[in-house]
Amino acid sequence: MANELLYTGKSKSVYAGDDNHTCILEFRDSATAGNGAKKAELEGKGVLNAEITSILYRYLEKNGIETHFVKMLDETRMLAKKVDIINVEVIVRNLAAGSFSKRYGVPEGTPLKNTVLEFCLKSDELGDPMMNESQITALGIASQKELETMKDMALRINALLSALFDRCDIILVDFKLEFGKHDDRIVLADEISPDSCRFWDKATGKKLDKDRFRRDLGDVLGAYREVLRRLKHAQPL
Ligand code: TMP
Repeated sequence: MANELLYTGKSKSVYAGDDNHTCILEFRDSATAGNGAKKAELEGKGVLNAEITSILYRYLEKNGIETHFVKMLDETRMLAKKVDIINVEVIVRNLAAGSFSKRYGVPEGTPLKNTVLEFCLKSDELGDPMMNESQITALGIASQKELETMKDMALRINALLSALFDRCDIILVDFKLEFGKHDDRIVLADEISPDSCRFWDKATGKKLDKDRFRRDLGDVLGAYREVLRRLKHAQPL
């Protein structure tokens, strides 16, 4: 019997696992930007993002970060622990770019005196509005203790990923994380891929991420392939 489709996201579908503790994430080729305003099918993106996410989640697990990753079932399907997703996106920034540059009027690439952490409500209808910690606790989306755990994990993940990408001659500019609860523990969930990160080539500044799609820079998949190639070369495992 086919596994039941639980949820269709913009670039992934989630299916029930064979037991109550797991689910299956399928990485699709769909690409969207501007909260769904721009759409395309990029043949091969699902395979690339699945492999990049699996390499990064294995590396993070090996370095003490609990994630929902269990194993790859095939090229696009990942077996994951079933989690209750915490309804905030956590954004980590090492350099100014994207919405941060726009909102605060600072050129992209401006160095930051400290790592920036932002929280956004996960809501397509509301356009993922930014939230502060008191708003998150007031609405019962997460407790202060859970926020502290997510912040601590996000900073540890940033240190680990920044070091790994540095070995790939890639600057990790910013990225988005999602967390979930499994057996009362907070674990890293969702994906980490060029869809959810900004990657700049260290030597040239070339964008190697979804900004190539958002900004019509061309050769989106060539950039994703290059990230995977360099990650494999860096042998993080
Ligand atoms: P932003 O500059 O558009 O706020 O994005 C910051 C980082 O978070 C960037 O690497 C893209 C990623 N991101 C997502 O993956 N999903 C989202 O919904 C948003 C808003 C950002």
